[in-house]
Amino acid sequence: MEVIIQKTTEMATKLTAEVIADQLRKQPNLVLGLATGRTMERLYAELVSDHKENGLDFSLCETFNLDEYVGLPPENIYSYRYYMNDHLFSKINIDLRNTHLPDGMAEDLELSAENYEKLITEAGGIDLQLLGIGSSGHIGFNEPLSALQSRTREKALTPATIAQNSPLFDKPENMPRHAMTMGVGTILDAKRIIMLVTGKEKAEILSKAVEGPVTGMISASALQLHPKCTVIVDEDAASLLKEKDYYKWIFENDPGWTKFERR
Ligand code: F6R
Repeated sequence: MEVIIQKTTEMATKLTAEVIADQLRKQPNLVLGLATGRTMERLYAELVSDHKENGLDFSLCETFNLDEYVGLPPENIYSYRYYMNDHLFSKINIDLRNTHLPDGMAEDLELSAENYEKLITEAGGIDLQLLGIGSSGHIGFNEPLSALQSRTREKALTPATIAQNSPLFDKPENMPRHAMTMGVGTILDAKRIIMLVTGKEKAEILSKAVEGPVTGMISASALQLHPKCTVIVDEDAASLLKEKDYYKWIFENDPGWTKFERR
């Protein structure tokens, strides 16, 4: 794992967008794993600008989202399909047929979860998976006690996640209590992972995920097992990390990062 600390939220977001864009330019048929949430809104705005200003091309890109609420159809403004169309897909040149989310409306959720896994495999696996972290420590909707080898399935959302996301709904009680999510194992199969974490409210859970033990109680801690995982954070989110100076030293000295603007 590498941890990159940027001074501001904007800088952390921009760097994340640059890494994604760089990989997409190198590999136009990139299979990209996507996340939703407040953190990602800024990131998608950056990718949209890159598309509009520099022609960043998504025409051959295929995407797989981490999760979707159970019971919300795509046209529901709180569904993740709606979020993705609204923040990204409708603003870039992606073929909507190449964009996939788990189906929270499937009659047989178990079967549709299996099919989602198959679809990812048929696409050749995820090249680059983008992640955020929830206040429960989740990645995707892998709530505490998720098996580190779990695959796509239905999960009950925990009180911490309901507290985090229900204010986004018109009536908090309308937030679904279940979601379909890629498993921790599915996520760890991605060839490369980038987790973007911003804001003071994420500092404590981030420090546990990065510097604490690997535990099913904090699914993001499983990222320590991944051979190519980069965590990009702003100073606020990094505020409780003990080894900040070490992470900064690595970033400044690692030849892999020389082409990116140092901030
Ligand atoms: C959503 C997802 C979640 C979010 C996390 C952080 O698709 O995968 O794990 O990344 O809940 O959400 P925000 O950015 O709203 O704090």
